[in-house]
Amino acid sequence: MAQPIIEIKGITRDFPLGNEIVYVLKGIDLHINKGEYVALMGPSGSGKSTLMNILGCLDTPTAGSYVLNGKDVSKMEDDELAEIRNKEIGFVFQTFNLMPRTTALDNVALPMIYAGHGKEDRNKRATTVLTQVGLADRMDHKPNQLSGGQRQRVAVARALVNHPSIILADEPTGNLDSKTSVEIMNLFDEIHANGNTVILVTHEEEIARHAHRIIRLKDGIIESDNPNR
Ligand SMILES: Nc1ncnc2c1ncn2[C@@H]1O[C@H](COP(=O)(O)OP(=O)(O)OP(=O)(O)O)[C@@H](O)[C@H]1O
Ligand SMILES: [Mg+2]
Repeated sequence: MAQPIIEIKGITRDFPLGNEIVYVLKGIDLHINKGEYVALMGPSGSGKSTLMNILGCLDTPTAGSYVLNGKDVSKMEDDELAEIRNKEIGFVFQTFNLMPRTTALDNVALPMIYAGHGKEDRNKRATTVLTQVGLADRMDHKPNQLSGGQRQRVAVARALVNHPSIILADEPTGNLDSKTSVEIMNLFDEIHANGNTVILVTHEEEIARHAHRIIRLKDGIIESDNPNR
């Protein structure tokens, strides 16, 4: 039976800006089941990153409810949210967001420090996931000693390291050339095939084709939500 992992009802998000309020998300209802592969699309400014940040527990909604893996996270305080985030969410960003003076191995192992694992466990698991993303021979390289595609692989390995329930990626191929983008998408396909739930934002139809469901946002509401056939 389909097992819900994301259950969102009536989510809004607005930001006070000077004397005004910017209304960004205007009422989002969304159900995503375990193991789904979803692309989130829509024009620039439609609210994709705002929604992803809420899905990833980096931000909380102004109103509405968000149940993640059975837990209501919409009203959690920051420290509680940080713990859920570290355990449940693997986030991949357009700009990789790696620690610059730190090796690939240590970048990947970092979330395990917050999760309280010892050094031996961390290095073993980080080695496994770096091998899984094809970087067994680049563990000791720092980000500036890696190509863009390799940096994004490190970021993907870091996202996977704590066995999260969801992988979220906000334009993961936005800074990569088309050949490298295909390689990274093949990696996401593999991660999905291994049973992970994957949600990614993209502007490109060709990237979105990898997903099995395409959700389109427009002006802070869901304009369409269709299987990708
Ligand atoms: N902290 C904030 N304060 C005020 N307005 C904000 C804030 N964050 C986002 N916005 C506004 O919310 C709207 C949606 O932003 P968001 O980053 O979610 O768009 P997006 O769909 O991800 O766009 P892009 O495709 O360009 O990445 C924008 O108009 C933006 O200016
Ligand atoms: Mg964005």
